[in-house]
Amino acid sequence: MKLHSNGLAASKTGRILSKGFRIIDCPKTIIVEDELVEQGRRFHFMTSIGWILVSIVAVCQLGNAQASSGAATFKSKCALCHGADGTGNTTLGKQLQAANLGSKEVQKKTDAELHKTVHDGNGNMPPFGEQLSDDEITQVVKYVRHFGKMAKK
Ligand code: HEC
Repeated sequence: MKLHSNGLAASKTGRILSKGFRIIDCPKTIIVEDELVEQGRRFHFMTSIGWILVSIVAVCQLGNAQASSGAATFKSKCALCHGADGTGNTTLGKQLQAANLGSKEVQKKTDAELHKTVHDGNGNMPPFGEQLSDDEITQVVKYVRHFGKMAKK
């Protein structure tokens, strides 16, 4: 307090203005240092939060990768007949009368039934038991389910 009023007095005289500033500057630097420490803490906090977010995103990506592996399988093995949209509206699909995968007839079947059809084939539908693992069939059946959800919308 005493220093401060000295500083004010100094600026009033104008002569020892710089000295007055130095006096006032002092607490400022301390405050700045405090802020740096505070910012440092905040930075650590943000990095922790950042890592938590990165982990959450990574876990979600894993889930997406599984879903998209069903999509990838579908595009490479099934879309030729069933079409990318699952309707079976392709040249080959029309010739072979590929099922519309979003239709009620297909969607009302259980996962186990669809799994079996994909695994063993059915009529013109070729069997995929030799090409795809059980897990890949499970994923592609999950993907087939999303045509049902799309059709309802
Ligand atoms: C060579 C063409 C062709 C390919 C490739 C093909 N399908 Fe099919 N799919 C068909 C035909 C044709 C049917 C109708 C079979 C029937 O009911 O006689 C069918 C029917 C289905 C059905 C309906 C089964 C039911 O029980 O109603 C599902 C589900 C299905 N296919 C999924 C798939 C999946 C998943 C793939 C890729 C792994 C695939 N299909 C690849 C031609 C194909």
